[in-house]
Amino acid sequence: MDAFIIEGGNPLQGEVTISGAKNAVLGIIPAAVLCACSSKIENVPDIKDVNKMIVILEKLGAEIYREKDTLIINTEKPISYDVSDYEEETGQMRASYYLLGALLGRYRKAIVPLPGGCNIGDRPIDQHIKGFQALGATVVIEHGQVKMEAPELKGAHIFLDVVSVGATINIMLAAVRADGKTIIENAAKEPHIVDVANFLNLMGANIKGAGTDVIKIVGVEEMHGCEYSVIPDQITTGTYMMAAAATEGDILIKNVIPKHMEAITAKLSEMGVIVLEEDDGIRVIGKHPLKAVNVKTMPYPGFPTDLQQPMAVLMTIAQGTSTITESIFESRFKYVDELRRMGANISINSRTASITGVKALSATKIRTTDLRAGAAMVIAGLIADGETKITEIVHIDRGYENLQENLRNLGADIRRISEKDPACL
Ligand code: EPU
Repeated sequence: MDAFIIEGGNPLQGEVTISGAKNAVLGIIPAAVLCACSSKIENVPDIKDVNKMIVILEKLGAEIYREKDTLIINTEKPISYDVSDYEEETGQMRASYYLLGALLGRYRKAIVPLPGGCNIGDRPIDQHIKGFQALGATVVIEHGQVKMEAPELKGAHIFLDVVSVGATINIMLAAVRADGKTIIENAAKEPHIVDVANFLNLMGANIKGAGTDVIKIVGVEEMHGCEYSVIPDQITTGTYMMAAAATEGDILIKNVIPKHMEAITAKLSEMGVIVLEEDDGIRVIGKHPLKAVNVKTMPYPGFPTDLQQPMAVLMTIAQGTSTITESIFESRFKYVDELRRMGANISINSRTASITGVKALSATKIRTTDLRAGAAMVIAGLIADGETKITEIVHIDRGYENLQENLRNLGADIRRISEKDPACL
């Protein structure tokens, strides 16, 4: 039951280096089991979801060595395709669903518990299942487990009904080992889709078109190990950009791909923030008063849903009324009550939040409702007048490496405390 204590008011100054992308590496690690081989993966972030994925693969029989941000995954010896005993681990993250595609691709069979992850609305996996069925798998869901079997895995033409990051990656994972050609239409285009496809291609897969909405995959019989370095995390980068903007800071964010940040750079510039792009870095200089803006979350290259919560914090102190329309997940506004407790002026109408700027947020005790809401609470704490206590930060540890250390290095007054769960006393 760790909590953060933040004394707000310090502008962030200095440099921060971004770690590997959570949502890329969580597809890449399962991808490494697609053959009897050994792969080396660099720039792996030290976050809870990655650590859980490693534990699951070890329990299935993979040999994994880790040194700093490098992972070696060795699956030369066969591993199990049955994940049903590890419901506790799979239930704590969304990306456990990638074991379905990877194990189906390698063994033509997979038994994997239904995934967990942030509670941000209805999160069906019907498009994943539709894809696996099109490739020839029979899929049964019973007792909380997805059970799949495909005596033959055959390439297919799959049109996704919704643009889904998870379904696009999962179908790629299975299709790279199918017989013949698979075409995924209406595919997601996020940078992590391209990163997983690049990793698979280095393993010997034949994927073309990743990063566009039509991905073509010709299945291969053999794959092999490879060495790969994961791209920097777009959402972590955006979080630091917004923290700098909110605190009127001046920071250089290193190890980023500025192209991935265009939607965020554009919105921050519209608010009056100075954003300077470098080759592999971005400098952000916060200038207040911030101007009100309107944001609608969209699949990439649109404004990412994973950054609407930190963006909402900026809007709470911008001049005028801003709006955020959340078009990806139907209940990603649970954090709004916490911001209201800090004095924010926010009203919600269906999927749109209207936020009228106030002079300042006032410090109080708030809680984290999910991973990105947690990042938003931290930014709120950084700008509030006085001491903010943020509880349930376990959500933040799932996806941000060294958040507290990085912010301290940038001059923030933030510390972590451990508390006993009162219910356990
Ligand atoms: N959807 C369906 N059916 C499906 C799959 C998705 O209807 O079979 C719907 C969802 O309900 C949602 C939309 O399609 O309305 C998009 O969902 P998507 O599948 O793209 O999301 P996801 O795979 O569940 C990943 C990230 C999320 C991120 C979203 C959107 C991982 C592990 N998770 O989730 O990341 O918000 O894509 O970009 O990659 C986070 O990192 O905090 C996080 C929540």
